[in-house]
Amino acid sequence: MAGIFVAGTDTGVGKTTVSVALLHWLRSQGWSVVAMKPVASGCQESEAGLRNADALALQQAAGAPLEYRQVNPYAYREPVSPYLAARIAGRPVNIPFIAETYRNLADRADWVVVESVGGWHCPLTERETAADLALRLGLPVLLVVGLRLGCISHALLTERAIAADGLHCLGWVGNQPQPEYALAEPNLTDLGRRLRAPAVGHFPFVQPHSGGGGEGGGFAAELLLEILRRLSRSVTLRPFECADKPTHR
Ligand SMILES: Nc1ncnc2c1ncn2[C@@H]1O[C@H](COP(=O)(O)OP(=O)(O)OP(=O)(O)O)[C@@H](O)[C@H]1O
Ligand SMILES: [Mg+2]
Repeated sequence: MAGIFVAGTDTGVGKTTVSVALLHWLRSQGWSVVAMKPVASGCQESEAGLRNADALALQQAAGAPLEYRQVNPYAYREPVSPYLAARIAGRPVNIPFIAETYRNLADRADWVVVESVGGWHCPLTERETAADLALRLGLPVLLVVGLRLGCISHALLTERAIAADGLHCLGWVGNQPQPEYALAEPNLTDLGRRLRAPAVGHFPFVQPHSGGGGEGGGFAAELLLEILRRLSRSVTLRPFECADKPTHR
């Protein structure tokens, strides 16, 4: 088992789009997968309780019979930052509980894809942000760069923050969430020159219902495969497992 933390330069940049594609792609390579969206706001009421569209998409893409509360332990109704939504709901996020849920899930597959929430420092509790969650899980980060105006600064800031927090950025993916953006190609070139992590994918804008995308076709498959093979051999010790568990890949 090994995990990947899918972070983004901001909210709405394509973390779910890329996570779903990654799950499909990992499965196409013969790996088993599970997925998590540990904290989600803007959830819809259903007969079974609050449900989040991202978590449902991940649950479906993983294909494994996962209980919803394992995929998304913290679901909030209000479409605001998780910290604010949690305060309104009176149910604070507990990062150690997420880590425990992650560990239980992780035993069940080769890869766990964890979609973050918002940008790198999206607030989760009074003091903690999404970065603290990534740190607690100790996972390598796949950075989704939303190709839009301002993305280069956002990408550089996020990559530096990941490194400053002591985490490894395994690569970045450029994703275009809006149809009208003429600078995607020059941005990709510029990002490739300025970011330290390798470019492991490009997801152009895909018209809804066009039948394109979603199956992992946006990845630089050989490079990503090489990176993940290396990771799956080396990065399987979580901080809370270090004492006695050897890696098993
Ligand atoms: N490559 C793409 N082509 C077409 N539409 C896209 C693409 N990437 C993202 N979108 C659309 O943009 C919106 C935001 O994408 P997505 O939900 O993947 O972002 P996110 O980073 O996961 O957002 P959040 O912060 O809410 O979790 C969605 O409506 C999605 O369908
Ligand atoms: Mg999302």
